[in-house]
Amino acid sequence: MKFILALIFLSKTLAMTWEEADLKAREWCADLTNEEKISLVTGRENMTGVCVGSIDPIERKDFAGLCMQDGPAGVRFANGTATSWQASINTAATFDRDLLYKVGAAQGKEFRDRGINYALGPSVNILRAPASGRIWEAYGEDPFFVGECGVQIIKGMQDSGTIATVKHFVGNDQENNRGASSSNIPEQALWEVYIDPFYRAVKDAEVHAVMSSYNAINGTYSVQNKKLLTDYLKGKIGYQGPVMSDWWSIYDVEKSFGAGMDINMPGGKAWGPDYIGNSYWGEHIQECIDKGIFPQERLDDAALRIIRSLFKAGQMENFPKVNLYIDTLTEENKALNRKVGADSNVLLKNDDSILPISKENNKKKIKKIAIIGKDAMPSKLCNDMGCADGTLPLGWGSGTTDFKYVIDPLSAITERAKKEGIKVVSSGNDNIISGALTAIKADLAIVFVQASSGEEYITVEGNKGDRQNLDLWHHGNDLVKAVAAVNKNTIVVIHAPGPVNLPFKNKVKGIIFAGMPGQETGNSIADVLFGDVNPSGHLPFTWAPREDYPTDVKYDETLPGGGEQKTQYDYDEGLFIGYRWFDKKNIEPTYPFGYGLSYTTFNYSGLDAIMEEDGLHVTLTVTNTGDIAGAAVPMIFLSFPEFVKDYPIRLFKGFNKTILEAGEAKEIEIFIDNHALSYYDVEVKDYVKPKEGEYVVYAGSNARDLPLKTTVSAAISKKRRNHL
Ligand code: GLC
Repeated sequence: MKFILALIFLSKTLAMTWEEADLKAREWCADLTNEEKISLVTGRENMTGVCVGSIDPIERKDFAGLCMQDGPAGVRFANGTATSWQASINTAATFDRDLLYKVGAAQGKEFRDRGINYALGPSVNILRAPASGRIWEAYGEDPFFVGECGVQIIKGMQDSGTIATVKHFVGNDQENNRGASSSNIPEQALWEVYIDPFYRAVKDAEVHAVMSSYNAINGTYSVQNKKLLTDYLKGKIGYQGPVMSDWWSIYDVEKSFGAGMDINMPGGKAWGPDYIGNSYWGEHIQECIDKGIFPQERLDDAALRIIRSLFKAGQMENFPKVNLYIDTLTEENKALNRKVGADSNVLLKNDDSILPISKENNKKKIKKIAIIGKDAMPSKLCNDMGCADGTLPLGWGSGTTDFKYVIDPLSAITERAKKEGIKVVSSGNDNIISGALTAIKADLAIVFVQASSGEEYITVEGNKGDRQNLDLWHHGNDLVKAVAAVNKNTIVVIHAPGPVNLPFKNKVKGIIFAGMPGQETGNSIADVLFGDVNPSGHLPFTWAPREDYPTDVKYDETLPGGGEQKTQYDYDEGLFIGYRWFDKKNIEPTYPFGYGLSYTTFNYSGLDAIMEEDGLHVTLTVTNTGDIAGAAVPMIFLSFPEFVKDYPIRLFKGFNKTILEAGEAKEIEIFIDNHALSYYDVEVKDYVKPKEGEYVVYAGSNARDLPLKTTVSAAISKKRRNHL
């Protein structure tokens, strides 16, 4: 960790500004030939080489070429030499900015040490439908929070010397026909919900690369969408780096290169060795320049953006050669993954304080625990995680890694139980009879259940990326019901990408949403079950029956990618995604956005808010009213001034995770900047921060538990803050 910190310090002190990088890049590019520029923008090897994306060297310029590698959960195809991190949805559930940054920094170092120029992550797409296949690769339903998570991960990655590639710009929020669909998004929602996390990535984290999406937006494919790529991303937002395509999502040269795409990944027209060098781009770019289809300046700009991002990242000298197989599976990374896994556990139910299992808490004199379910057992690992057999550490697709190991829950719990003199019996399958017979003899039964999802190029148990439904897999509901029928002290641990149906909710005493925790999964859940870690995870999404959400994925027949035939996804819910929809329709969710219990309790008081030049300064006091230390996440929601019409009742706009000893009270400050205080005005065609009217400030522990409320004028206050 010391090395990472040193690197971070060094990189922060040495980090170039975009202006400085621009000067160096212009100088470096000055004598490039068009052929060399074209080789910079056109992927080679077509994903048949070591890296999933690669760019040719330019020997004359002593340029070693470029390597792009997945993904948001760590280095892909590293043959077990890299850390197999948790899913992004777990990192999000910690609601811990520092931890998010540390994960980004640790991941970034693993990419950089391998000579990988571009890490293909994070994804900041929005969870608008819980069945959508890749929700676990991003950070939930709220654009402000998704942006906050993306910013910390990007900062961490880039401070470690690799380029973060924020993706997928924009509206790739479901898998069905991702390459032959149009996300039809109203302008205000396009900006405030779907573009906004990218806006933050550019403005707050200086992201050095962006990946476009497969889908169309309002009828025009992202890769051909000049308005989005050039006018919005590069123009209005001022993004200085390159835009690379998602893999094989480019089907032409005129419209894509002309629209502002800068890198064709992985370069070929389609998958396969026959398409190495057979690209829609390559020499066709020169042909288009010769025909005047687009100007020379377009090629100059694309090459400049690539080189500018490399100077900005400090990669133009002393960058390691590509070697995917160096061992970076350090003890620090294992410990960090284990911590994130534990801190991302969301304790949904804990009746009679059945948890934690510990001497202090062992009123029930637990002597024997039954561990039930195949999801507690060692994982069978398939390519790109394309199976769910044994405990589930991650979903499937390009955002996966080659696991060196997976610590299974049964082994970890058995090991830990020994310290408490507790016996463990188990039924390591999903057989209902076996499960019940095992549970009946125990003081406590813990049932491990799962569901999975992933990318559309793999179908697992009938799910082509998107989940067919929100039910647990492998008869999980029946297994829980059978165990709960014979043991009144039943707890359920869920490994899943997001919400699942909970027909057994009132039949069990404890429920933990454990997400997809990565390689240390068994240790993480054991830490929480035995109280070595007090759970502090919170839901980054609303949990409800499928039909209560404002929208859903479709299961249309598969269409050819990039064509005129498209599945239409009408984002009619507009701004009202997630909790905003449930508030507007007054629907009671199963568990609200932000929900998460602790083994202790917290009280919130003393809310105050002052509007200053730079934004809104909110303070409140958080007290740990229980008898053990724990981490609270006070959350701030705002209602905007009434003149902002057709707007969500409340929007999530601030949080600060804070550890408190038993009985300790702390005054917490939560700052909300002017961008977060703004709405997108479609007339003005820009974000506008109200100068009149009042905001209503709510504070509490989740979207439906906001006991504190105050109002604050949108005008700058005369009152000064008494400094904390
Ligand atoms: C995939 C994904 C993208 C990934 C890329 C390279 O199809 O959409 O997230 O980075 O291709 O594997």
